[in-house]
Amino acid sequence: MGVLRDKHIVLGISGSIAAYKAAVLTRLLVRQGAEVQIVITPAGKEFITPITLSALSSRPVISEFFSGQDGTWNSHVDIGLWADAMVIAPATASTIGKMAHGVADNMLLTTYLSMKAPVFVAPAMDLDMFAHPSTTDNLDLLAQRGNFIIEPQSGELASHLIGKGRMEEPEGIVAVLEEFFSSTLDYEGKRVVITAGPTHEAIDPVRFIGNHSTGRMGIALADELVRRGAHVDLILGPSALKPSDAVHVERVTTAEEMLRATEAVIDTADIAIFAAAVADYRPRIKHTEKIKREHETELDLELVRNPDIAATLGARKRPDQFFVGFALESNAGVDEAKRKMQAKGFNAIVLNSLQDSGAGFGHETNKVTIFDQEGSIEAYELKSKDAVARDIASFIIKRLG
Ligand code: C5P
Repeated sequence: MGVLRDKHIVLGISGSIAAYKAAVLTRLLVRQGAEVQIVITPAGKEFITPITLSALSSRPVISEFFSGQDGTWNSHVDIGLWADAMVIAPATASTIGKMAHGVADNMLLTTYLSMKAPVFVAPAMDLDMFAHPSTTDNLDLLAQRGNFIIEPQSGELASHLIGKGRMEEPEGIVAVLEEFFSSTLDYEGKRVVITAGPTHEAIDPVRFIGNHSTGRMGIALADELVRRGAHVDLILGPSALKPSDAVHVERVTTAEEMLRATEAVIDTADIAIFAAAVADYRPRIKHTEKIKREHETELDLELVRNPDIAATLGARKRPDQFFVGFALESNAGVDEAKRKMQAKGFNAIVLNSLQDSGAGFGHETNKVTIFDQEGSIEAYELKSKDAVARDIASFIIKRLG
């Protein structure tokens, strides 16, 4: 058996004639050793019955938010965490539109919106619907956000018209998944330590100094690397986001805690990626009681330097370790990024410029340039942070040979 063995695949089926192909797709995936959880839209059930699909997948088919039998909640959140990949086949124009615009009016769409794993979309529709600007714009948007579009074929459609819109055959969809999962085991046996998120430095029990980092980029890297076979220790500052279950997460609050937690695992690492936005200073005194406004007309905060985690650990990096840093610069930044790479002992540095609209803190997208000690420079387009994580992962593994 190949790379799909034991993979958890969520198969989303929407209402198209091509839904009959989902039965064959399920059979092929199960034959490859994958576990298939089917989620079907109400319209999908008009085209193929859940009984056929549950028999083929050996699992109950999910369609409603609550089970009709006993009222238990079908947790789209749990399915999102369980999955190694989601495939939406067939994806109708309506489902594609709802995916692009966050319309969560059925179980397939809530599952999609909660999905942590990569999503593959196999459109199926009439040629004019496929060519319509709404559809092409929606598919572009989904691709930009890191979803994989499995292009439909040209041929005879259910309408008997000839054109592009025939869903890719089940064998073709399986081949796409196999290629995806086989290219993704290039980190097998590698141990990676990642720092991510902001740090919070307490002023008193209710106030802190922090920054706008969400941790999104570092978490996207952690998710990507575990998917590609790495063991990842993620040292994560205060972030509302949740990495996939396979990532080993150590939650910390302050820069000093982040340094200690990173020091504890750094010797085990083949690769370290310093993606955290560490607060450079912390208050010298952490007040134990909330500072009362009535007692002060002005408040002087004395700040002391926080440890530079990357520089501290970079100084004692072993030659067999590969360290990568980030530089977020508000002006041109290339020289500054290169200076930081030298100063902190990085093998490579990822520069994201605050000047690029859509890049940096809080955005779903990022635009990066990567430099390394050998003098190579790779500049990438504006992409989803998941797609940027794939680029960074490929850059690093290539340098490691
Ligand atoms: O000096 P600057 O903060 O721009 O450097 C950015 C790089 O150094 C990032 O990789 C960041 O994670 C790391 N860094 C760190 N500890 C600090 C400050 C920055 O690890 N205190």
